Amino acid sequence: MNPPDKKPYVEYLNAVLPRPRPRAGAPLALDLFAGCGGLALGFEVAGFRTIGFEMDADACRTYNKNLHGECRQVFLEPGQDLADGPDIIIGGPPCQPFSVGGLQEGSKDSRNGFPVFIDAVTRYRPRLALFENVRGMLYANKPYLEKIIAQLERLGYHVEEKLHNAGHYGTPQRRERLVVVAHKGGWEFPKSEPFGYTAGDAIGDMLGSLPENPKFLTASMDTYVAKYERASKCARPRDLHLDQSSRTVTCRNLNGATGDMLRVRLEDGRRRRLTVREGARLQSFPDWFEFEGAEGSQYNQVGNAVPPLLAWALGRAVARYLDLSDSERAVSRRAGRQLALLEHA
Ligand SMILES: C[S@@+](CC[C@H](N)C(=O)[O-])C[C@H]1O[C@@H](n2cnc3c(N)ncnc32)[C@H](O)[C@@H]1O
Repeated sequence: MNPPDKKPYVEYLNAVLPRPRPRAGAPLALDLFAGCGGLALGFEVAGFRTIGFEMDADACRTYNKNLHGECRQVFLEPGQDLADGPDIIIGGPPCQPFSVGGLQEGSKDSRNGFPVFIDAVTRYRPRLALFENVRGMLYANKPYLEKIIAQLERLGYHVEEKLHNAGHYGTPQRRERLVVVAHKGGWEFPKSEPFGYTAGDAIGDMLGSLPENPKFLTASMDTYVAKYERASKCARPRDLHLDQSSRTVTCRNLNGATGDMLRVRLEDGRRRRLTVREGARLQSFPDWFEFEGAEGSQYNQVGNAVPPLLAWALGRAVARYLDLSDSERAVSRRAGRQLALLEHA
C-alpha cells in the first residue's frame, strides 16, 4: 500500500528536484564523464557544488544550461590537472566496456575510463569517491572490478559496493546500477523510498494527444519486433506497460529502431516510440531540465544518465557522511585538546 503522503509523480519530481541554486562554501564534487549531468543534478540538489568533465559538446551544453556548476568540455586522460580542492570525486565511466550487451572487453577496451578515475583519486585524495556502472561489472569483468577496489584500498580508503535498483528510489523504472564508494569509514548507503511509481504515473498525462512528429512503428517494424520477441521468448509484448515500472531506459532502446525499442501502444492500436521528454520522465529528470542538441543526441544524453532521483539519494547519503566525519573530527580534536590540558595541569 502506498503511504498517505505519496504525491503524484510529476508533482513529486518537480518538488524534490528544483533548479539548483549557487551555494558559496558548499563542498565541491568533481564529476568525471559527466554526461548531461544526471548524477550532478542529484548532488547539486543535495547541497554540493559541481564541476563536470565531459567530451561531448551537446551534453556539456545541457549541463551548463541546467546546473549551477560548470561543465568543461574535455577528453579525459590520466595525468590531467582537473580542479584543486575537491571534497569528493564522483563519476560514471563509460559502461560499454562492461555491458553484457557488448563484448565486455573491460580494461582492454579503449573506452575504459577507470584509469582516469583512479588517477584523479590518486592526485586529489578526496574525502570520498563514488562511481556507478552497469551490473555487467559483476560478471566477466569482476576480476577487474576487484583490481579497481584494491587500487582504492591501497590509497587508504575503505571500499563498499552495492547494486541499486533506481525503482527503489522513486524512479518509475527497473534500472540496476552498481555503485562503489571509497571512504574513510562510517559510510552508509541510502535507504530505499517506501513507494514506487509506474510508467503510467510518469507519462500518462502525455498520452492523450500526439507529440510533434510522432514516430509510429511501421508495418515492417511491427513484423521485425514480433520476430524479435518470438526469438527472445517474450511472454508479453515489450511495449511499455503503464501499470508497471518501465524496463531500463538506454540510448539504444530510446534512439534505435531496434526490436527492443521503447514504445507505447495507443488506444487506437498504433504503437509510438517515446519522445525525449517521455524518456526523461522515466529517467526522473524534472520538467524544467532541458536537453541541448539534435534529437538523437538528446536521446543519448537521457539514456546515458544516472536517474537524478537515485543520484539525489546518493548525494544526500554523501552529505550525511561528510557531516558525520566533520563532527567526528571535531570530537577527536576536542578530546586531543583536553588531553593536552590534562598533560599541562
Ligand atoms: C555513462 S555516461 C555518464 C552519465 C552521467 N554520469 C549522467 O548521470 O548524466 C558516460 C559519459 O562519458 C563520456 N566520455 C566517455 N569517454 C570520455 C573521455 N575520455 N573524456 C570525457 N568524456 C568521456 C561520454 O560522452 C558519456 O557522456
